[in-house]
Amino acid sequence: MKNNGLEDVIAAETRLSDVDGEAGRLVIRGVSLDLLVERATYEDAAALLLDGFLERAVTAADLKVRLGQARAEVFAHVRAADAALLSLPPVDAMRALIARLPDGEDFETTLRLLAAPAVFLPAVLRLQKGETPVAPTPSLSQSADILAMLNASLPTREQVAALDAYLVMIADHGLNASTFASRVVASTGAGLTSSVLAAISALKGPLHGGAPGPVLDMLDAIGSEDNAKAWLGQALDRGERLMGFGHRIYRVRDPRADALKGALRPLVMTGQVDPDRIRLAEAVEQAALAILRERKPDRPLDVNVEFYTALLLDALKFPRAAFTGVFAIGRTVGWVAHAREQALEGRLIRPRSVYVGPLPQAA
Ligand code: COA
Repeated sequence: MKNNGLEDVIAAETRLSDVDGEAGRLVIRGVSLDLLVERATYEDAAALLLDGFLERAVTAADLKVRLGQARAEVFAHVRAADAALLSLPPVDAMRALIARLPDGEDFETTLRLLAAPAVFLPAVLRLQKGETPVAPTPSLSQSADILAMLNASLPTREQVAALDAYLVMIADHGLNASTFASRVVASTGAGLTSSVLAAISALKGPLHGGAPGPVLDMLDAIGSEDNAKAWLGQALDRGERLMGFGHRIYRVRDPRADALKGALRPLVMTGQVDPDRIRLAEAVEQAALAILRERKPDRPLDVNVEFYTALLLDALKFPRAAFTGVFAIGRTVGWVAHAREQALEGRLIRPRSVYVGPLPQAA
């Protein structure tokens, strides 16, 4: 019971996604991850996840139009970003703006929640640099518009494809900590905005979605391929964890790592990423895997989603402090779908604890 991370506890039944940690396989609503990333846009994946959980049917084409309108609608809330809010880390500032949105369980609430992080994060990043936020362009896809709002220019085809692949890839992933948080809140009947706020709060920790920024810090600190082995050895000697490695469920390579590497390729081939950065990352990955095998022979530790996420988001010019916020943009649809599934089919989640404190003194 002590230090229990609930690893063997089944806490929900879901039709949304399945993570097979032994085989290194992720299935989203019956579709394997590689196929989904190859064939689906963000809007396709969102429609797939939400199918059957809202009061009306949703197609990807419909979602594209309605999401464009929702981005324009939520942009009005950017005005509420005052100096105190903008002094917060980007993910916290984004969460504070989302907290202003009304709660609810319907399609309109869902649209606002999918649009809000996509609009608020680029706006917060620009305001924090002293720049004017860029209004959304409703006719663009969600991925293209995020990049347009971030950089105040139209993104390249390769950039849009890379962000789209990333958002699809992280849209859902079983009962991870943030998704569980979303379901716990949904089980009380609190509403989707509350579920998403709880989920963002769980996501931002370094053991969940807060790792990709530190992955880049690690690559910067290592600096060159020759230094990788020594630097990693010293980090482990200090008792540190290597960011971007290890996973609660996967005992093999996280399937999303190679899918992300694949999504980076067109950017590399068209000269939109520094090839030295990729070479260094590959060398660090190999050195880390070798040293983890040596130091932790009983615990299979492989690369996880955060390692190549860091490279992809860096290539798309997101500042590293914003990486967790971009993760939230992609995962919100998973949180909403799980919250709806819980609200429709589950019961109040209320586990028990074992009391180990003092007993009252007899009078
Ligand atoms: N670097 C070094 N050692 C690691 C490690 C890492 N990244 N991840 C796990 N370990 C070691 C632990 O120190 C522990 O060793 P010990 O038994 O000798 O103390 C053992 O592996 C088991 O770790 P545990 O904390 O029980 O695993 P977990 O399932 O709770 O942790 C993570 C999963 C993801 C939290 C963990 O692997 C981690 O902290 N990784 C780095 C952060 C990261 O990349 N997060 C993003 C996750 S997608």
